[in-house]
Amino acid sequence: MNILFVATELAPHAKVGGLADVMAALPQALARAGHGISVVVPLHRGLRKSGEFRPTSLTMEIPATGKSWPTRVWQGRRGEVALWAVERDEFFDREHLYGDGTGDYPDSLERFNFLARASVELARYLDPTPDILHANDWHAALVPGHCAALGLPMKTVFTIHNLKYQGEFPSEDFPSLGLPSGMYSPEGFEFYGRLNLMKGAILLSDAVTTVSPTYAREIQAEAQGFGLHEVLRANAAKLTGILNGIDEESWNPAIDHAIKSPYRTGALRGREECRAALEIEVGLEPANGRPIFGMVTRMAAEKGVDLALANAAHLIQKGGRLVILGAGDKGLEEMAVRLAQNHPRKVVVRREHNEGLARRIFAGSDFFLMPSASEPCGLTQMYAMRYGAIPVVGDTGGLHDTVDEWEGETRKGTGFLFHPHTESALRGAVDRALALWDEPAIMKVARQNGMKKEWGWGSAVPAYENVYRSVLA
Ligand code: ADP
Ligand code: GLC
Repeated sequence: MNILFVATELAPHAKVGGLADVMAALPQALARAGHGISVVVPLHRGLRKSGEFRPTSLTMEIPATGKSWPTRVWQGRRGEVALWAVERDEFFDREHLYGDGTGDYPDSLERFNFLARASVELARYLDPTPDILHANDWHAALVPGHCAALGLPMKTVFTIHNLKYQGEFPSEDFPSLGLPSGMYSPEGFEFYGRLNLMKGAILLSDAVTTVSPTYAREIQAEAQGFGLHEVLRANAAKLTGILNGIDEESWNPAIDHAIKSPYRTGALRGREECRAALEIEVGLEPANGRPIFGMVTRMAAEKGVDLALANAAHLIQKGGRLVILGAGDKGLEEMAVRLAQNHPRKVVVRREHNEGLARRIFAGSDFFLMPSASEPCGLTQMYAMRYGAIPVVGDTGGLHDTVDEWEGETRKGTGFLFHPHTESALRGAVDRALALWDEPAIMKVARQNGMKKEWGWGSAVPAYENVYRSVLA
């Protein structure tokens, strides 16, 4: 099958969160299974600078927002996967992908309508023509609409990586999209009098997927439905939850050049060195006998950063230390920094996007804290387990599907889960983790349980193939 992925992120040079990792890894896995795979992204500043893309001689005229935009197409290649980028500097040559930490850029709708329209246009030029356009998250949610409006034969698949971000705009903005007026209706992009891109994509695409089975169930009920639960329930027949994998070559402590010393499940000595190096690098008070809790996160409310901060005093009082690497919401960043100021060398906050440090936190922390209120899949808990940091996570979405509660008696399990999303439930999980810390030999078993788990794309690929086959049938 020939499939064109459309997304705004592509690791490592255009990345805010896990979408970037998935767009780098899933297409590769599908290509290895023999499919013809290409990916189109905006030519973000970071992608241009990376040198991975070169301009082609193809320039397309893209009608969007009442204008016609001459658009140069850039090309790259990773193994068998063809990469494409559409160039419009006034939209994409920016410091950030979406906004500056106080909100999205005000022209988001225009930018991502352009991306969708340009991607659909590109699909017409590709040889062989894609059978399927696979659009990801709200930024690509206009793809099924444009595809249908142009009467193109391709099928469309839409993946929800995070239902919280739907792309909502005033109804007056709809005409600027260049879609038939009939698409602004309950069967399309209209939702309670507003324009809702994700809702339209759910209705107009041939199949919808999301990134874990539990999240696929959760989003059909009010608590995690972010207002769209009824729409999703009505469309449940075309909704599938497929758990993300991780790139096990890139995320491998035995060969990771970003960490101090390599190590593996059966030979953990290098991990001790990584831990000591992390203390020095971030300025944590060195202490062999006291655990390090690590966090690597977008600073966003749904990640439970507030719970983690509220719990920090307890954690410290019990002898723990905390290192947080996170960027995003300015308010949360500042709260975290204030906490660190109040607990010098016991809480350290680095507010930046730094992949090397992220890797060193996975390799050097004893526990990995991820108190998400909702989590479509989550990749960091899988990276943490692979690197031997034991996850302490909210029992939700993909966290439920990837972390198994540790059981002392059977010595089975990989981490600690808490529910409901409250400070006291988190405290309970932290206390269970600290009790395990007091028994180093047993803690090692839990650590190794996580490291031995396989998180590759092996089972996701046939699941996506089923979805693709069903829409082509
Ligand atoms: P989400 O996509 O919701 O942010 P995921 O767990 O799926 O959550 O993916 C997050 C990705 O972003 C991981 O690759 C993680 O390592 C990375 N990441 C998040 N914050 C940072 C940061 N401050 N610096 C470096 N990498 C980060
Ligand atoms: C989103 C979700 C995250 C998921 C990622 C990749 O950003 O928040 O849970 O792992 O997409 O699918």
